[in-house]
Amino acid sequence: MRPRVTLKLATSLDGRIATASGESKWITGEAARLEGHRLRAAHDAVLVGVETVLADDPELTVRLPGRPVDQPLRVVMDSRLRTPATAKVAHGDTLIVTAAAPAAVGTAVVERVDSEEGRPTPAAALAAIRRKGAVSVLIEGGGQVAASFLRAGLVDRIEWFRAPILLGGEGRPCVAALDLANLADAPTFRRLSTEPVGDDLWERYDAVR
Ligand SMILES: NC(=O)c1ccc[n+]([C@@H]2O[C@H](COP(=O)([O-])OP(=O)(O)OC[C@H]3O[C@@H](n4cnc5c(N)ncnc54)[C@H](OP(=O)(O)O)[C@@H]3O)[C@@H](O)[C@H]2O)c1
Repeated sequence: MRPRVTLKLATSLDGRIATASGESKWITGEAARLEGHRLRAAHDAVLVGVETVLADDPELTVRLPGRPVDQPLRVVMDSRLRTPATAKVAHGDTLIVTAAAPAAVGTAVVERVDSEEGRPTPAAALAAIRRKGAVSVLIEGGGQVAASFLRAGLVDRIEWFRAPILLGGEGRPCVAALDLANLADAPTFRRLSTEPVGDDLWERYDAVR
């Protein structure tokens, strides 16, 4: 069975995750970021695309005050092994899923998996994550990786933090192109809850299948 997949979005009101120049720190406030760490702690793995690694060099660790936790497996979707050996995720418990011949990237485990159009498929990434013993994964962006998992029908839940700012059409979308032919093909979700966190709004959705 594949791992359960949660997509976490931290966006502006108009669903942007960064400015056109790629600036994204910090769109949401401290309270939302704390919930983000709790979400990480509640999942066995945390996954991002390589563009997020290149733009933000995230640690992808759980940092909660006064609470030691098991750190989730960190996973990077990286077709051509562009993750720098100096990246924070290149050290420690990290899995890089790739379409390229495996090569050393820091101390990360690099695994070549099934690919389509030169990119590891979401289903193959999930299978590799499952083989590592993880039964849940939190996708933390960016928009291209989010779109790939949504297109494949592999997102079970969305945890959406929206900050009361607008970044406009030139900002980077939280979900890249879905290539929908019809409205009826759109991934559809049912809202579970809506809750203010600091100045932001936290919406939770389950997939409707
Ligand atoms: N607001 C937030 O909380 C937040 C969170 C995350 C990211 N961000 C921002 O989002 C931006 C990055 O997002 P992004 O959409 O440009 O990139 P992304 O989703 O982080 O990474 C996309 C890259 O991943 C690789 N990839 C490998 N397999 C893939 C697959 N099956 N599907 C999709 N991509 C795959 C591709 O590069 P290769 O084919 O070359 O490997 C692709 O270009 C940055 O500006 C970052 O700061 C913001």
